[in-house]
Amino acid sequence: MSKMKATVFHGKNDIRVEEVPKPRAGAGEAVIRITLTTICGTDLHIVRGEYPVKPGLVIGHEPVGVIEELGPGVTGYEIGDRVLVGAITPCGQCGACLSGHLSQCGHGHGYEAIGGWRFGNTINGAQAEYLLVPHAQANLAKIPDGLSDEQVVLLADIASTGFSGAESGNVRLGDAVVVFAQGPIGLCATAGAKLMGASLIIGVDGDESRLAMSRRMGADVTLDYRAADVVAEVKRLTQGGADVAVEALGTQQTFESALRCLRPGGTLSSLGVYSGKLQMPYEAFAAGLGDHRVVTTLCPGGKERMRRLMNLVQSGRFDPRPLLTHTFSLTEIAEGYRVFGERLDGVMKVAIRP
Ligand SMILES: NC(=O)c1ccc[n+]([C@@H]2O[C@H](COP(=O)([O-])OP(=O)(O)OC[C@H]3O[C@@H](n4cnc5c(N)ncnc54)[C@H](O)[C@@H]3O)[C@@H](O)[C@H]2O)c1
Ligand SMILES: [Zn+2]
Ligand SMILES: [Zn+2]
Repeated sequence: MSKMKATVFHGKNDIRVEEVPKPRAGAGEAVIRITLTTICGTDLHIVRGEYPVKPGLVIGHEPVGVIEELGPGVTGYEIGDRVLVGAITPCGQCGACLSGHLSQCGHGHGYEAIGGWRFGNTINGAQAEYLLVPHAQANLAKIPDGLSDEQVVLLADIASTGFSGAESGNVRLGDAVVVFAQGPIGLCATAGAKLMGASLIIGVDGDESRLAMSRRMGADVTLDYRAADVVAEVKRLTQGGADVAVEALGTQQTFESALRCLRPGGTLSSLGVYSGKLQMPYEAFAAGLGDHRVVTTLCPGGKERMRRLMNLVQSGRFDPRPLLTHTFSLTEIAEGYRVFGERLDGVMKVAIRP
């Protein structure tokens, strides 16, 4: 049996690059040779033991590669095609997918909460030399000629998720939008709000380099939460409250501040991954009578989503490359996790090259 190198989760703070069996494509599946991948904030939650996955799993969920093998029934592709695969791999056939909730895919029938997220969660993931892609027909997105791996790798998750914060928030032309946290996800939410026509975008973080990147990604105003009364300042800048507040961290404090920033009838669009209990302060919620909307979104995936995002890059509307600040080989990935996890050296996202 042929082997490949892969990043295997063994337990809390214990990942190792080791030799594992190279996958083979069954019916409806494909194997891709990974040419570029990255590390997500969610991978940090996994490695730190904050999000459970089973020991022995290959982690990572942001794959760019070349088709190595196509299983029976996958049509319209050739061995050697360059492809981007979203972090979320919907089946395209279940009740959830056919109702438009691809991220809550039930794999053939019904719905399953978070069911669309399989790579590096319930099946082997992308921080490896090869990756088995399930439901390949629904998930292999051919990369247009002229786009580099670096231009598309952050579309698999970061940009798709970040943009969805603005899309699910239903940002309208002329809206005032505040985005809480300007990590990679929040920065893409900022870029998404700009793409959707917001006329005032306020980026909130506590890190100077991220606030600078926020302005580069489209924020008109940035606020340092350590120095400013963010809620009061947003209310002043928006003359009463933001139309949409995006939460891109996953804490009680940012969720609550996002709610307090909204005008009545505004939308809180939540992207963060929370743990423990999340509380809704009744006065900011107008005791439940404020016509607020609270929406959550799991990264949209599937090949049509990836095609649209690649079009945004190809047309010059969005350039994710400034976010890719560091590069490591697959064998150096532990160092990549350290630099990314401890936010050393101004890191935003790290490129991992098998
Ligand atoms: N919904 C999804 O599908 C999805 C997908 C991927 C990641 N996520 C989640 O999104 C969240 C953000 O991910 P990321 O990779 O951008 O995170 P990150 O850790 O890289 O960035 C977080 C940012 O928050 C800032 N911050 C800390 N405290 C703050 C505060 N009180 N107010 C404002 N900013 C503050 C930090 O300075 C940092 O820049 C995580 O919870 C991650 O798990 C969700
Ligand atoms: Zn992710
Ligand atoms: Zn499905």
